[in-house]
Amino acid sequence: MSIQLKGINCYYGSQQALCNIRLYCPEGEILVLLGPSGAGKSSLLRVLNLLEMPGSGILQIAGHRFDFNENLSENIIRELRKNVGMVFQQYHLWPHLSVMQNLIEAPCWLLGLSKQEARFRAEKLLARLRLQNFSDRYPLHLSGGQQQRVAIARALMMEPKVLLFDEPTAALDPEITAQVVDIIRELSETGITQVIVTHELEFARKTATRLIYMENGKIIEEGDCNLFKHPKTEAFAHYLSH
Ligand SMILES: Nc1ncnc2c1ncn2[C@@H]1O[C@H](COP(=O)(O)OP(=O)(O)OP(=O)(O)O)[C@@H](O)[C@H]1O
Ligand SMILES: [Mg+2]
Repeated sequence: MSIQLKGINCYYGSQQALCNIRLYCPEGEILVLLGPSGAGKSSLLRVLNLLEMPGSGILQIAGHRFDFNENLSENIIRELRKNVGMVFQQYHLWPHLSVMQNLIEAPCWLLGLSKQEARFRAEKLLARLRLQNFSDRYPLHLSGGQQQRVAIARALMMEPKVLLFDEPTAALDPEITAQVVDIIRELSETGITQVIVTHELEFARKTATRLIYMENGKIIEEGDCNLFKHPKTEAFAHYLSH
């Protein structure tokens, strides 16, 4: 499912974090958001599953259309979150639940899967992410890289059409980062659309099929991954030179 934003403005109190954002991302792409700290990358990502509610604008994602000039119902927000998953830097796993329980909780409650169906889905995903031996462990007894893969598996349990990542490799060593790169590439072959915020240029270069460069709540550059080699603005060229 493609993603489209028009005229998105987002505020924290009187501070404007996103200014008139317009973007288009075709289905199946891996869109990477780059920019200095405070540019608005996380805010933009969080708008995509309505963890942040824009003051105005239009968002089309995963077959839903939201006009922020109108009131939105809780129902439609819940529907959206079934189709748009999120993986955070800090994993956000439930510490008191085992890996398996972490995986099956949401699909049982939100999608109405039986425990058996959910366990079946979870086992397939754990095998795919090379976590099959960890299903009874608790998150605190896993390494950071393993926790991050569990977080990805948990998001995939919902079979989302769009998957969002906020700095998914910030706490990982290079080997585990390489595994995350492989997972993201594999996922894109299944047609899922992915949006990734990162500060790591190497990781961005290895994953992005499209990219956006932001500063001060505005999109400065948008295009395919050729922009890495041929930035159009001095600002992005400067950012890449670090
Ligand atoms: N919950 C909040 N309350 C108030 N201001 C916020 C909040 N979240 C973000 N901001 C502000 O909005 C702006 C954009 O923040 P955002 O987190 O989107 O930036 P970012 O590009 O993700 O930065 P970083 O790379 O440091 O994560 C910043 O000026 C930030 O201080
Ligand atoms: Mg951020």
